[in-house]
Amino acid sequence: MQLENALDRIHNLDCVKGMRSLPESSIDLVITDPPFAIDFKPKRGNYNRTPGRVLDGYTEISVANYRAFTLQWMGGAHRLLKDSGALFVFSGWNNLKDLLLAADELGFLTVNHLIWKYQFGVVCKRRFVTSHYHCLYLCKDDRKRKFFNNARYGPEAKTDTGRSKRYRDLEDVWDIPREYWHGDIKTPTKLPAELIRKILAYTSEPGDIVLDPFAGSGQVLVVSRELQRRYIGYEIVPEYHAFAQKRLEENQYRIPDASG
Ligand SMILES: C[S@@+](CC[C@H](N)C(=O)[O-])C[C@H]1O[C@@H](n2cnc3c(N)ncnc32)[C@H](O)[C@@H]1O
Repeated sequence: MQLENALDRIHNLDCVKGMRSLPESSIDLVITDPPFAIDFKPKRGNYNRTPGRVLDGYTEISVANYRAFTLQWMGGAHRLLKDSGALFVFSGWNNLKDLLLAADELGFLTVNHLIWKYQFGVVCKRRFVTSHYHCLYLCKDDRKRKFFNNARYGPEAKTDTGRSKRYRDLEDVWDIPREYWHGDIKTPTKLPAELIRKILAYTSEPGDIVLDPFAGSGQVLVVSRELQRRYIGYEIVPEYHAFAQKRLEENQYRIPDASG
């Protein structure tokens, strides 16, 4: 597919297949949150959500196939990224090793290993509560990658306690709350818009092309558009694809559940 035809759309396709059809070195930034391979059950009661409003169809990958699957999609991302490009990939700790090994094998360089601290961990009886995700910030060429140090705060900006806001914002542990969409339709997992805004602000510019191979609710695409970036998304589950497409086409951030 010609790049121009693929742009500013979410495609109901397996991302590995979709990415193959795009030209090499055409993408500025990949932000993505692949399936976890943890036998994730999105409608489990302890996720504190109304199961009826969570769309069906979540597609998991088996642990045994995770390494091969990761190499496939990450290899596709490596081929598509420009030398100045970067990949942000989210992961729980369970299968992080597969992402780290694949990144090395494919020739990505690690810029940062970010931690997203969240507040929706599932309470456990016999171990500590997991309340973070990993986010690997990877690039192809460390000298060419983009980074806009003053994108959100200048050197003069101070917190209430007199500390540098820019320093705080640039720390590699990000404490960002989950968005609760009470009463609205949702997919089982979605990244908070603030997380995506932050990545986009520091590492891309208006007009850049952002790719999310595992688009889910379309959050990366919706926020990319909000910040005047171009975007391409893939989502394999028809219900999620339709939901994300509706959000994009109707320019609606949240979609109320009409059934009440
Ligand atoms: C963790 S979710 C992504 C959530 C997304 N970041 C958001 O904020 O809504 C992973 C998504 O990848 C989709 N998926 C799984 N395998 C895929 C494939 N081969 N190609 C495209 N999408 C796939 C799943 O259906 C799921 O919606």
